[in-house]
Amino acid sequence: MSTPWHHRYAQRTQRMGSSMIRELLKLTQKPEIISFAGGLPAPEMFPVEAFEAATQRVLRQHGSEALQYSTTEGYLPLRELIVEKMGRYGIEASVDNVLITSGSQQALDLIGKLLINPGDLILTEQPTYLGALQAWRAYQAEFSTVPIDDDGLRIDLLEEALCGGPKFMYVLPNFQNPGGVTLSYERRLALIDIADRYGVPIIEDDPYGELRFEGEHLPPLVVLDADKLNGRQYTNHSEPHSYFKGNVIYMSTFSKTLAPGLRLGWIVAPASVIQHCVMAKQGMDLHTSSFVQMVAYEVAKDGFLAEHVRQIRQVYRERRDIMLAAMAEFFPPGVRWTQPKGGLFLWVTLPEGMDSTAVLQDAIAHNVAFVPGATFYPEDAQQTNSFRLNFSNATPEQIWEGIGRLGRVLEKVLDPVLV
Ligand SMILES: Cc1ncc(COP(=O)(O)O)c(C=O)c1O
Repeated sequence: MSTPWHHRYAQRTQRMGSSMIRELLKLTQKPEIISFAGGLPAPEMFPVEAFEAATQRVLRQHGSEALQYSTTEGYLPLRELIVEKMGRYGIEASVDNVLITSGSQQALDLIGKLLINPGDLILTEQPTYLGALQAWRAYQAEFSTVPIDDDGLRIDLLEEALCGGPKFMYVLPNFQNPGGVTLSYERRLALIDIADRYGVPIIEDDPYGELRFEGEHLPPLVVLDADKLNGRQYTNHSEPHSYFKGNVIYMSTFSKTLAPGLRLGWIVAPASVIQHCVMAKQGMDLHTSSFVQMVAYEVAKDGFLAEHVRQIRQVYRERRDIMLAAMAEFFPPGVRWTQPKGGLFLWVTLPEGMDSTAVLQDAIAHNVAFVPGATFYPEDAQQTNSFRLNFSNATPEQIWEGIGRLGRVLEKVLDPVLV
């Protein structure tokens, strides 16, 4: 219904609308539904007791600092912890290269505020993270896309897309959301090479890199970019690099390793970019909660976070294995899926011409849910025969049962004679 407010909204709100899929997903909150839809971590893995003790320590030892306004850049010990953590992945940054954000979702919004003029073209993977599309639509961005396959972004199609003159590329190299795939080492090198030749910066979004279940860790794009600038060959990611500059803005988050309710993420970028982000962030929220930053630091320090991440990896690996085994058991022929080596998601492709949004309606009727693939494409590039499954949130028993239910739904839609 139209209200007087309807005429008052800024033009940029026009593409923010609610979608049928979001309405359908509201139904998946019912307790009887086994939902593989959200990107939620396993709640039983949240270190609640460690948070309880840390909260007490922060309030007793630094109560007034924790409850006071603070600097926009973020709590210094937490930034130092991030610098140390990044160093383990070969990213040599100093605290001047790190900004704490209110979740990496805010980092995406900051990037939009800083870089996007109305009508600017942004190049994304196809499919890509819905939250980035949402953040950047509000800045009136246009999108062009390059498909992914099992080795990540299709580099062979990249140059053609770059001819459209995008402002930047948005890439999720590790256990991509939603595809679950990882950009191979060869493609990382090629991507950096091409980005350099075309002078197009890269936004590297890496919430899942630490959640690798198997295989070798691959160097982040930001490290390969620094190597190229410094005329070096990547050799060993445990050897830190001597300086931080370049063409890549890196971001990550504590959401998948500690707890998403903290709303704590970070950006690593050249110091001048960080300064601009700081100015942009001041207009959003002045700073990320000092209290939460201090509590998170108290929990994470002295190796607790590293040990905790090891435990999460084990739990998620087991859940991924069960989901893959259940799919092999229950999904009918003609359905394909990715084999993620880490992260939270895998991607299912149905035969050509099928509509996963219609399948979701059947699935909900059978008390199981997923996110239809169309959600993860900009409007004009949508494909309908795919969907995303999350394997971190449900228990192994629920995964087996839920995939069984979904298998029966898929059998019916693929072979209507059985109905
Ligand atoms: C690729 C990607 N980027 C950013 C985010 C946002 O995470 P945060 O909770 O840190 O805002 C997510 C969350 O699922 C994500 O998958």
